[in-house]
Amino acid sequence: MKKVVLLMCALFIGTCILGLSASAQAPAHAVDKEGHQWWQHAVFYEIYPRSFADSNNDGIGDLKGIATKLDYLKDLGVDAIWISPCFPSPQVDFGYDVSDYENIDPMYGTLADFDVLASEAKKRNIHIILDFVVNHSSDQHKWFLDSKSSRTSAHRDWYIWRDGKGPGQPPNNWTSTFGGSAWKLDPATNQYYYHYFYAEQPDLNWRNPAVKDAMFGVESWWYKRGVSGFRLDAVDTLFEDPNLKDNPILRPGTNAFGDPIEDKKYNTKLPEVHDVLRGLRKVADQYGAVLIGETWTADVAELNQYYGQGNNELQMPMDFLFTMVNKLSPAEFRKQIAAVNGASGWPTFVISNHDIVRSYDRYGDGEHNDQIAKLMAALYLTLRGTPIMYYGEEIGMKTTPATNKEEVKDPIGRTGWPQEKGRDGERTPMQWDDSANAGFSTATPWLPVPPTYKTHNVAEESKDPNSVLEFYKKVLKLRHENTALLDGSYKAINEADDNVLSYLRDYRDHGVVVALNMTNAPQKISVGLKGNGFASMKSLLATGSSSGSGDEVSLEPYGVFIGELSK
Ligand code: NOJ
Ligand code: CA
Repeated sequence: MKKVVLLMCALFIGTCILGLSASAQAPAHAVDKEGHQWWQHAVFYEIYPRSFADSNNDGIGDLKGIATKLDYLKDLGVDAIWISPCFPSPQVDFGYDVSDYENIDPMYGTLADFDVLASEAKKRNIHIILDFVVNHSSDQHKWFLDSKSSRTSAHRDWYIWRDGKGPGQPPNNWTSTFGGSAWKLDPATNQYYYHYFYAEQPDLNWRNPAVKDAMFGVESWWYKRGVSGFRLDAVDTLFEDPNLKDNPILRPGTNAFGDPIEDKKYNTKLPEVHDVLRGLRKVADQYGAVLIGETWTADVAELNQYYGQGNNELQMPMDFLFTMVNKLSPAEFRKQIAAVNGASGWPTFVISNHDIVRSYDRYGDGEHNDQIAKLMAALYLTLRGTPIMYYGEEIGMKTTPATNKEEVKDPIGRTGWPQEKGRDGERTPMQWDDSANAGFSTATPWLPVPPTYKTHNVAEESKDPNSVLEFYKKVLKLRHENTALLDGSYKAINEADDNVLSYLRDYRDHGVVVALNMTNAPQKISVGLKGNGFASMKSLLATGSSSGSGDEVSLEPYGVFIGELSK
């Protein structure tokens, strides 16, 4: 009897402690009068931790370094930072090969450093989002080491092991997206394991309930430590056809790695992915957390699947189709923005990240890159939806790949050279000032600092009211203060215009017009104030000589005009 009472007391106290710590750390579930949650009004900012700020001067950025830059981020207008993987890792894929999901890699600091970062961020009302590498672990994770140790080990079925088709033949024709067969033979147990990415990143077997439990456990472990959500890595690849059907070959020829061009229909985007996303969401909802998805969708119908039925999967699947509009084309942006506005969930816009060429070069013409960087900022930071910035984008950092194969750090840049130069170019150290190594570190940085750091750095740009950085700050300030930009509807205007992208954000008694000149020549547009239910317009923010008067907006080449509209 005594034992039972003691046990019940222990359970009760335990539940209280858990409940307390969860609610103390959890961000508010509160919704505003529009029914919006915190993440719908927040500006997110991706930090590639190796490259942001190096506090101990070993050439690699770290968590303490990030903590020293929180005031910078707050001043910029950032509400949430997504830190790319900072967990223990052999760093084959620079952290996307996790060997312990519940710790911090010593090169980035300690769990205590994480706690300090989290509490300092919280003081500034900045949320922390971590990167959850759900598809695979490192081959050095203790789960995989045990899995590999024998055919009958406790963790054997935590990964995907199969016999070869015949001597020296992998189980099927699937190729790794990083080159070569997706199967690696383990000679000791004479079976192959499956890896969608590098061989050092074996795929977890999500059909095994023990894997699900372990990963859901990791998810809550971090929420209890103060994390406000996750960016989910490579969700498309969570499941594979259990019968291992060969993938069809799309066309003759080979990719940068010399592999056949496959339709990955039997190992990506399987419907079972959505069961897992619903499971992860259930856990997230207990903590008021947000799930962002790395979702390479082919169209908006596919994007809708990631929001889930009744929005029970990802709150923020990223719209990468937006980044596929690889030129300044009003028509193409208009089409994509309209499609996402018609989607079943809240839009999430991104223009750069650690895997793709930076927007500065993707849209820049080599001559007006700073103006174009401002134009792109004015575009995706004034749309209806949540933006995710990428570090350095706000100062106009330029993609700077290695010039020869020997210098490349990203393994795919070596195997795919010269067609695929890897992703080093978009991962170079943050440019803080014009001192040696751009103020990132006093040691030689892990990747060279681009020569543009002399002109494009935080210190210099903070002194120049016309810099890309100051423009970002102004747009972000507007975005936080103007209810039409936060909650207003989106409506394209001048839809036949091939030169200027213009739209309205309409909210109750006022609105905002955004006009973006995507050409190298001056342009004019009419807003159509009356027809759209507005009486007058005044300037909120404009670049150079761009201006608005009456119903008309005049734009300098690549000019931006943002105007307040009253009813
Ligand atoms: C997507 C990540 O963004 C990328 O950097 C990584 O290499 C792969 N997933 C594998 O985790
Ligand atoms: Ca360091």
